[in-house]
Amino acid sequence: MFTYNIFLIGFMGTGKSTIASCLAEMYNFKIAEMDEDIARKEGKSITGIFSEYGEEYFRNIETEYLKELQEMTNQIVSCGGGVVLREENVRLMKQSGKVVWLTASPEEILKRVKDDDSRPLLQGKKNVEAIAGLINQRRARYEKAADVMIHTDGKTAEEICVEVMNKLKNMKERE
Ligand code: S3P
Repeated sequence: MFTYNIFLIGFMGTGKSTIASCLAEMYNFKIAEMDEDIARKEGKSITGIFSEYGEEYFRNIETEYLKELQEMTNQIVSCGGGVVLREENVRLMKQSGKVVWLTASPEEILKRVKDDDSRPLLQGKKNVEAIAGLINQRRARYEKAADVMIHTDGKTAEEICVEVMNKLKNMKERE
């Protein structure tokens, strides 16, 4: 359908993994799940990588993984929420694909992440104010990286997938 990769970006809990699986199923794409693949390669959970080696180490592996993905096409890539923190990562994503930014309200994000302890950067920050603060710190980076943006509150995964594909098709027609 598309020859390029589709990178799903967005804050933690905006549904990137869910939408990646749904897109793969509906449109027959292959999936690269960055956090899961990194954890498998390192033989450690994301929390374990952060606590043993620190965030910088994790960010370096993220960048290395994005470089590997340059060789591939037709992949849906579910990115870690912090992938936009490095300009180099944004450049790499844009070189091999289109970037889709999923957003959700802090209230909705809190509902989705509150019982999950797999995200080191949310430890001690599971409240609406802290989540809203973190989103605000990153908003400009998401905005700059994104080719299209989709708000996810109140929509089903299928509705979001159709919206992703329509927005990408429209972009293609206008290019
Ligand atoms: C992070 C998001 C996480 C994971 C890591 C750091 C971030 O991914 O990569 O905990 O900086 O926002 P998800 O967005 O898939 O939770």
